[in-house]
Amino acid sequence: MKTIEIKSIIHEYSSLDELSPESKNLCALALEAAKTAYAPYSKFQVGATIMLENGVVVKGSNQENMAYPSGLCAERVALFYANSTYPDQAVEAIAVTAIHNGSQVDYPISPCGSCRQVIAETKQRFNKKIKILLYSSDKILEINDSDMLLPLSFAIDD
Ligand code: THU
Repeated sequence: MKTIEIKSIIHEYSSLDELSPESKNLCALALEAAKTAYAPYSKFQVGATIMLENGVVVKGSNQENMAYPSGLCAERVALFYANSTYPDQAVEAIAVTAIHNGSQVDYPISPCGSCRQVIAETKQRFNKKIKILLYSSDKILEINDSDMLLPLSFAIDD
């Protein structure tokens, strides 16, 4: 028998000013993106931004639908747009934040399981680490490798 321990490292910052200029900008744009959400049902507006290898930033927001499961999270809206518009550009970083009751959330919100699976495959596709930034008004969490959010993600190895 062998035991495998999986460790996640998360850096916590108390202000955007502690981040690199690129990460700070990515977070600030995620908050702008949250304002474009179509979230009449949950009233929870999520914004996600993607930094591509070529420096282009792509924004996305959650898009809901009266047939609830037809809606999509901000992260996947942004990722699918990025990967369909720039299919040759690796994703380097993703920032996520949300607005609820008119204000930015004061706790970091983290991608749901389905978004984590899509992030995991994007990393695998380009073979490049993806940094995750979870931006709230109280603190910012930085995870330098998306694998730490979803160890043992599904993959077919052939
Ligand atoms: N949502 C996201 O956009 N990203 C997440 O990581 C979690 C949840 C959306 C889905 C739905 O439109 C709303 O937030 C409430 O769950």
